[in-house]
Amino acid sequence: MSTPIIQIHEVSKSYGEARPALTGLSLDVRAGEALAVLGRSGSGKSTLLNLMAGLDKPSGGTVRIAGMRIDQLGETALAKYRRDRIGMVFQFFNLLDDMSVHDNVVLPAQLAGMPAVKASARAAELLEQLGMGQHANAFPGHLSGGQRQRVAVARALMNRPPLLLADEPTGALDSSSAADVRDLLAQLNANGQTLVLVTHDTELAASCATRTVELLDGRIARDVQAVTR
Ligand SMILES: Nc1ncnc2c1ncn2[C@@H]1O[C@H](COP(=O)(O)OP(=O)(O)OP(=O)(O)O)[C@@H](O)[C@H]1O
Ligand SMILES: [Mg+2]
Repeated sequence: MSTPIIQIHEVSKSYGEARPALTGLSLDVRAGEALAVLGRSGSGKSTLLNLMAGLDKPSGGTVRIAGMRIDQLGETALAKYRRDRIGMVFQFFNLLDDMSVHDNVVLPAQLAGMPAVKASARAAELLEQLGMGQHANAFPGHLSGGQRQRVAVARALMNRPPLLLADEPTGALDSSSAADVRDLLAQLNANGQTLVLVTHDTELAASCATRTVELLDGRIARDVQAVTR
């Protein structure tokens, strides 16, 4: 079998004197999996996701993504890692409200130095695929929550990352928009996109995840493979 795309080995994370957020956690994720990370508030879900994203460093242990150790990288290498290897989706979209949908989606490619014409074509294709083609010139403030999250997903996919990470992607959405975003994520995974979804939304886990890990006090309490989806 091929090397897992995520290899987390004996990772701990402490913030000052408080009880550690993660303690000796090990987790392998294979390409093509859709992993849902569940657990109550404070159990360490976002901390774990941030370590995968290279947004934070572990206090101990190693994090390898696509074969590369990222826990020891400096800021420049980490910025490049985040730009090229991962896409991130957040609860509150994190779109730039004074830029059009198209310009938001194109941004990661511009930062990666992709020629403007090519980047523009890729953005248009992605927005079309995600059902947002007719909103390319709109501003995020004029869209519904579900539409904004579709734009955020398009932006996250712009540089074709092998790994898409999401922290509560349905957390700020009404039930119909949440269902829409669940379908979108399930469809991306069906097309081969590896996903890690941190969520309280058990319906998201049920409809989208091929595997569910539950955290309790910074450890893995349960690790369950979906039988069918
Ligand atoms: N930047 C930080 N500084 C200090 N403590 C932190 C920081 N980030 C997280 N923690 C602590 O680490 C623990 C785990 O937090 P984390 O944000 O990973 O939980 P979570 O499972 O994502 O919770 P939620 O479901 O509320 O988002 C908590 O006790 C939290 O207070
Ligand atoms: Mg969190």
